[in-house]
Amino acid sequence: MSGRHSMLWTHEGVSLSRLITKETLDAVLDFQIRDDDIVVASFPKTGTHWLSEIAVKILRAAGKTEESMDTMTSGPMEATRPTATQPSYITLADIPSPRLVVTHLPIQFAPKGISKPQNKVKVLVPMRNPKDTAVSMFHFYKKLWRLMGVNMELRWEEFVEDVRSGMVSFGDYCDWLVGWWQMRDNPHFLFLKYEDMKKDLLSAVKTIVAFLEVDLDESTIKDIAEDSTFDNMKAGLDNSTIAERRGIARKGIIGDWKNTFSSEESAAFDAWCEKKLGGTGLTFDFE
Ligand code: A3P
Repeated sequence: MSGRHSMLWTHEGVSLSRLITKETLDAVLDFQIRDDDIVVASFPKTGTHWLSEIAVKILRAAGKTEESMDTMTSGPMEATRPTATQPSYITLADIPSPRLVVTHLPIQFAPKGISKPQNKVKVLVPMRNPKDTAVSMFHFYKKLWRLMGVNMELRWEEFVEDVRSGMVSFGDYCDWLVGWWQMRDNPHFLFLKYEDMKKDLLSAVKTIVAFLEVDLDESTIKDIAEDSTFDNMKAGLDNSTIAERRGIARKGIIGDWKNTFSSEESAAFDAWCEKKLGGTGLTFDFE
């Protein structure tokens, strides 16, 4: 692979960043999930930090932790942060419970404790419409490459094709969705759409509180929802102790894709989504 694709390698048909090694993938499959772990399984840019922050706020309000999101998670377990020396799954093994475990892996590469959950583990899966996800990824990768000192220009016209053909880290987003969506009726799992959260955050927080089996009163739940709006979360993310988190809160809206996609690119995405998601029951709001 050349140019921008030189950052990728392929494992069992899925493109992955070269920052994720085969050794890590092998180790992660048997990573010990704890009974009281809360997992966020997300494709990048679909609301990972949003859901993580809400989960942490709920645990704190319930008196189950005093930690902040920055200290409770060390980023996607399979990745080595640009500023870290080892993959996060190693760091995670030493973090006291309750832990927030984040992964971007497709279901077939995820720890068995997540893909075949036992006991009480809870898995939150955010999902976002593929066009806004692609735009968000584009802006984030540009920032990440700068942070990593990658001296290459990322061009939208090429990137949008890469997303549609699965030539981005974690592969084809629609395949990723279909993989995890198999767990939709499993009681360990809660799927939440970014667009629904944006339209009614209070209901989403109530649903998460119930799913996590935490007892909180109505006014505490309202406060958590209020503190978790984009505007109220932005300052915390922008001032995070973790460098790559400072670029997360960008626009936080539904429909930003309209400012970026050409009509041809949009039609090609529609065809891709229809081909992959048609018949699965998975649909998205694009505005
Ligand atoms: P945009 O780039 O479209 O603004 P992730 O956490 O999975 O990396 O996703 C990042 C995306 O979620 C970014 O999207 C970011 O702005 C958005 N986001 C983060 N916090 C949010 C919030 N409280 N409300 C809405 N969107 C939020």
